[in-house]
Amino acid sequence: MIKLSPSLLASDFSQLGNEILKIEKAGCDMLHLDVMDGFFVPNISFGMPVISSLRKISSLIFDVHLMINDPVRYIDKFAACGADIITFHYESCNNQYEVIEKIKSCGKKAGIAIKPSTPAFVLEPFIGKTDMILIMTVEPGFGGQKLIPDTLSSVKQVSEMAKARGVSLDIQVDGGINLQNAASAVQNGANVLVAGSAVFGAADVESAIKSFKSL
Ligand code: DX5
Ligand code: ZN
Repeated sequence: MIKLSPSLLASDFSQLGNEILKIEKAGCDMLHLDVMDGFFVPNISFGMPVISSLRKISSLIFDVHLMINDPVRYIDKFAACGADIITFHYESCNNQYEVIEKIKSCGKKAGIAIKPSTPAFVLEPFIGKTDMILIMTVEPGFGGQKLIPDTLSSVKQVSEMAKARGVSLDIQVDGGINLQNAASAVQNGANVLVAGSAVFGAADVESAIKSFKSL
C-alpha cells in the first residue's frame, strides 16, 4: 500500500493548524516535516517549537526529515517534541550507526537519506538497521523543484538490495513528486511518497490526496 506524506514546507505558514487538519481529514498517512539548518542545505525552515505546537493538534505520524549537520546533537530534542520517524542524511555525519541507535533508544523509527549525487551502494550496510530509506529525488533545500529522473535508479537499487537480503523496509521518495511521475517512483520500488507542491499547491487538495492514494 502506498503511503502519502505531504511536505508542510509547501503549506501556508500563516495557517499551519488548518493546513494540517485539511490533509489529515483527506486521508493522508503522515506529515513530512523538513528541518533545515542553513549549513547542510542553503536554507532555513523551522525546528522544535513549531513541531511541538503542531503535535498538540494532530495525531498524524510525524515524519521528520533532518537536513542538519551532525544530527546526533538534536535527536533527543526532536524525539521529545513529537517526531515518530526521524530521518537524517548519510552525508551529514560520520557516525551514522550512532545516530540510528540514538533514534531507536528514544523509541522512534529511524530513516537514512541520500542526496541525488550519493550512490545507493553506500546504503547497503544500513539495510535491516533502519525502518526507512529516503532517496532524495531533488537536491535537498527547497520545495517546488523538478524531479531528477536518474534518482529513480537509486530507488530501484535500494529496493533490489532489500529484496536480496529478505528485508522489508519503507522506501521514501522526496522532491518534485507529482501525479504524473509518482507511478514510476512506485514501479521502481518506492512505497512512501512525499509531495509538497503537488498536495498543498493543488486546486483541490482533497482530490489530489485521493489520487495519490489510489496509485
Ligand atoms: C526538499 C524537501 C522536500 C520538499 C518537497 O529539501 O526535503 O520535502 O519540501 O517539496 P516538493 O514536493 O514541492 O518538491
Ligand atoms: Zn523532505
